Amino acid sequence: MISPGGTINGTVELPGDKSISHRYAILAALAEGASEIANYASAADCASTLSCLRCLGAEVETNHSGVRITGKGLRGLQPPRRELDAENSGSTMRMLSGVLAGQPFVSKLTGDESLRRRPMRRVMEPLRQMGAEIRASDGDRAPLEIHGGALRAMDYTTPIPSAQVKSAILLAGLYADGASTVREAVRTRDHTEIALREFGAAIERENGAVLIHPRPKLTARRLIVPGDLSGAVFLIAAALILPGSEMTLRNVGLNPTRARVLDFFSSMGAPVRVPSLQMRDGELVGDISVKYAPLAGGVVSTAQAPEMIDELPMLAALGPFTEQGIEIRGAQELRVKESDRIATLAEGLRLMGAQVEEFPDGMRVEGRRAGQLRGAKVEPRGDHRIAMALSVAALGAEGDTVVRDAGCVSVSFPQFYATLSHLRGA
Ligand code: S3P
Repeated sequence: MISPGGTINGTVELPGDKSISHRYAILAALAEGASEIANYASAADCASTLSCLRCLGAEVETNHSGVRITGKGLRGLQPPRRELDAENSGSTMRMLSGVLAGQPFVSKLTGDESLRRRPMRRVMEPLRQMGAEIRASDGDRAPLEIHGGALRAMDYTTPIPSAQVKSAILLAGLYADGASTVREAVRTRDHTEIALREFGAAIERENGAVLIHPRPKLTARRLIVPGDLSGAVFLIAAALILPGSEMTLRNVGLNPTRARVLDFFSSMGAPVRVPSLQMRDGELVGDISVKYAPLAGGVVSTAQAPEMIDELPMLAALGPFTEQGIEIRGAQELRVKESDRIATLAEGLRLMGAQVEEFPDGMRVEGRRAGQLRGAKVEPRGDHRIAMALSVAALGAEGDTVVRDAGCVSVSFPQFYATLSHLRGA
């Protein structure tokens, strides 16, 4: 239950980035030697990746500072004795598909009810072109049965903007018989490219294309995962809803393929600053400071949407707190995330009294003039980002809001409610 009001004040350090944690864990399992990954994400999704890697024979020890993974080498994974369960994690399923396509054994990948509804043909098609045999229950959905083996190098242009698909192909490219290329029309997050280079893979980038050359081995590393910007955005939004707020977030990942959302906040008049910035393990990391300010609102265009895909639910839920409202276009991918995020969010915001128009590829949420939000009982449908977006919107509503099944936030940000309470001084 969220009671509205209060202010957000203070300084916090955030748990490790979910996207980067998956990649470090997978590459550590394929490397030779022991990797130390500090600030590994506390997200349940990243625990799913670790448990799949254990089933494939990697030694994984979690400790107070992060995770230590002793890799098996590129050719040393073992056939799993049971189904690999990615639970709620699309990244785990799609990225591991790429690795499993290159293994000389059969494996089965499954997930929870939400993940078993999500499209998988997008990874199956390119991996089949490389020579893997993959079966899916109805041609598109998990469970997936992957018969891996020798792979052919490939030049592939991704039909949809997806870092998960790009990553699956690059990981399979480690096992191909020559250099593989992935081309994307719209740039997606490049954590896989950066992490591959950190672990010693031969990777090149030129004009929107990424090339990977197979190499005999990857080398273990000591790495620190930056704080999760996608989690940070919920706290930044809370500070922008509650007058008098002033907050600093330390050591947040600011990779340019993820940080566009900060430019969008600035374009709405939000005083979001990055007082310090450094390069660590190939990733930009910095502090973010933000103060309350009235927001103008704005439009997220088709070109911008893929770079802010995980932040769009929060941006849309800020609509009622802006002057002109928020419109999002070119985000049809939101319909195939952990829930149909456009429909789930529209339903929740309407219950709170917002004026929302849905489009096949986005939504428009009217601004302040449509009236103040009011507390309601809302249903995030098991979707962590919808639960957090509605919870933050509830801070600026009139009356209390009940977010059903709010425990689902643990999928990406288990400490979300505790951090919010801490920053509100509760
Ligand atoms: C992710 C990529 C995005 C994003 C997801 C994490 C990643 O998915 O929505 O939360 O870690 O590569 P798509 O690449 O499928 O859009």
